[in-house]
Amino acid sequence: DKGGWSSFMAKEITEQPEAVANTVRGRLVDGHVEIPELTALGDDLLREIDRIVIIACGTASYAGMIGTYAIEQWARVPVEVQLSHEFRYRDPVLSDRTLLISVSQSGETMDTLMAVKYAIERGVTTVSVCNTQSATIPRESDAAVYTHAGPEVAVASTKAFVAQITALYLIGLHLGRVRGTLSGDDARRAAEQLEELPGLLGEAVDTHDQIAQLAHWMADTRSVLFLGRHVGYPTALEGALKLKEIAYIHAEGFAAGELKHGPIALIDHGQPVFVLVPSPRTSPLMHSKVVSNIQEIRARGARVIAIVEKGDTSVLPFADDVIRLPLTDVLFEPLLQVIPLQWFALELSAAKGLDVDQPRNLAKSVTVE
Ligand code: M6R
Repeated sequence: DKGGWSSFMAKEITEQPEAVANTVRGRLVDGHVEIPELTALGDDLLREIDRIVIIACGTASYAGMIGTYAIEQWARVPVEVQLSHEFRYRDPVLSDRTLLISVSQSGETMDTLMAVKYAIERGVTTVSVCNTQSATIPRESDAAVYTHAGPEVAVASTKAFVAQITALYLIGLHLGRVRGTLSGDDARRAAEQLEELPGLLGEAVDTHDQIAQLAHWMADTRSVLFLGRHVGYPTALEGALKLKEIAYIHAEGFAAGELKHGPIALIDHGQPVFVLVPSPRTSPLMHSKVVSNIQEIRARGARVIAIVEKGDTSVLPFADDVIRLPLTDVLFEPLLQVIPLQWFALELSAAKGLDVDQPRNLAKSVTVE
């Protein structure tokens, strides 16, 4: 039931505040994060791990990339993401001090399941971040940390993505507490942000009308680029994937700093570029670098659509369109920034008369390798 929406994807985009609230619920107690499923693994094990490998595909892998920044910051352990289908072909270095976290909405993605099995055979502890109760991957894993986004029907993942980031952050905060690497201030600040998040996501959902107008006049666009730095980089990758997947438009996401190493040659008159601008309050250095990137591409004719924090007027002279989002700390920015990108893909797909929920050649859950 689409609940009055024109597509499941539209409905699911609007359900994101709830998806995040439900994923946090019960795991934040008196300002600290406690995930019983991780506690059951034993605190000694969590203290001794010296490396975390996140495995996932597609959108889940971008949630994983975003998770690496937060988990490293809070738990002071190196974290990397590997695509599930690449993982076992590289003879990965694994040990009993490696923690493998798989991320999968369906819990049935064959590539991810095979990677989990490969790790289990080598004695690695496995945690599954999954949205589907009792799916195969969480059943095979040592622990399951469920996202509670509710059933996701549209092929393009939206609410599962924000719930996956949330679950990875909760894991990072749990690990940081157990390992003694998370300061009291950081713990409190993160807890506050997690509590505020549903309200902020609601404001991001409200960007719909502005984005719908933008998409309307961009209906015949053939290529769109997305730029971001730090956690904005995987967010840019996710924005590009959404557009390829449901609007069949060539799109690429770049790390903003990478522009001058090649991609800037793509910039031509009228080339639309979405730029995810970090907060000038919490990340002044990154902010100024991204604003310079905007100036560079604008000087070469790009049509700049800047996604900024409310009150940031620094980009006004260089941006063709400005989308404003509520204030949050840098690690939480992707959860807000991705929402206008999801709307954009949806509206462009709809403007082209495509089936938003059932794009060609794709299945909701990929159960073959
Ligand atoms: O069910 P999973 O999270 O394991 O699925 C992984 C990818 O197939 C999935 O995220 C895919 O990239 C989506 N269609 C993206 O919108």
